[in-house]
Amino acid sequence: MPIVKITEESLRQAAQLISQGELVAFPTETVYGLGADAFNSEAVLKIFSVKNRPSFDPLIVHITGVEMLEQAADLSLLDSKAKKNLEILTGQFWPGPLTLILPKQKTVPDLVSSGLSTVAVRAPANETALQLIKLSGTAIAAPSANPFGYLSPTSAEHVLEMLGDKVSVILDGGQTQVGVESTVLDICTEQSIILRHGGITREAIEEAIGKVETAEICTGNNPSSPGMLKSHYAPKTPLSVFHELAFSGSANEYANTNAAFLFFDGPSRDKWLSMQKASCKTYVLSETGDMNEAASRLFEALHLLDRLKVDIIYAQLVPETGLGLAINDRLKKASAPCL
Ligand code: TXA
Ligand code: MG
Repeated sequence: MPIVKITEESLRQAAQLISQGELVAFPTETVYGLGADAFNSEAVLKIFSVKNRPSFDPLIVHITGVEMLEQAADLSLLDSKAKKNLEILTGQFWPGPLTLILPKQKTVPDLVSSGLSTVAVRAPANETALQLIKLSGTAIAAPSANPFGYLSPTSAEHVLEMLGDKVSVILDGGQTQVGVESTVLDICTEQSIILRHGGITREAIEEAIGKVETAEICTGNNPSSPGMLKSHYAPKTPLSVFHELAFSGSANEYANTNAAFLFFDGPSRDKWLSMQKASCKTYVLSETGDMNEAASRLFEALHLLDRLKVDIIYAQLVPETGLGLAINDRLKKASAPCL
């Protein structure tokens, strides 16, 4: 069984595996990552093959903090505004769920950045992840530890279920706290642009550095940030999203199917149940409608519902504030047909 408890010894062994060009699955505050030495192309190649990930989708390089930044990014290429933004953002949000797109240092293999001149970098707010980077003495390239396009893992068991036979070690850090991936922010452009909504909200970023843009979801297969692909984060069971109004207006439309329902909060579930004659399978992200709790339980909920063997999952979109943008982004992408 590749799941191991986190001890000094298991961390040391995992770090050694990274140095030897092997893959290690590890917890972060967002989702579990599948890590390799970012400067070892052969090791990085294994990530793409294990995940079945297209080579056009670049990886995030994980570091301990600004002290390692120049190993991955060439900061001399940033203009003064970007330098200032970098200082503010790393000061305020690192370590944490904010990934920054920066000019790539030449020593970072092209495989990591999918040939782009930029590189994605972040310092995770998770002690195990930080220790692993420190002990292995290198930056760690890591995508989420799931097969490409499928649900992200928020527990060691999720990784085991999805990639178990393909990774030798899964460091078990329990359930992740944030539950949605990091926000990806490009600060190299004229105006900073959010490429993926995630654990740090747009509101918080705008409070720190002023107005930012949000990239449109790409409908083709060659987006500027492949996390913007329309279909992603999807369970195997078909998923359909609904807004409360459309939902309450046409309740019977859903009545006779072998379906499961994912609700944002307790009151929405209760309203639905009060309209039902038979019992039905429901799951609530947060009884009290707490957005942080909802985000932290999103992927766990989708993994659970995906195991129920229902014909369809109906998922309620959440209010578009704070982490709600990241949650709705994941739900909408989970509902898009596969590319
Ligand atoms: O929270 C997270 O970010 C997790 C944990 C493990 O750190 N990682 C994660 O990695 O979600 P992944 O590979 O699943 O998503 C990385 C995203 C993708 O959407 C990728 O397209 C984008 O970052 N990305 C990476 N490098 C980029 C670059 N140079 N320019 C634009 N987007 C980039
Ligand atoms: Mg991913």
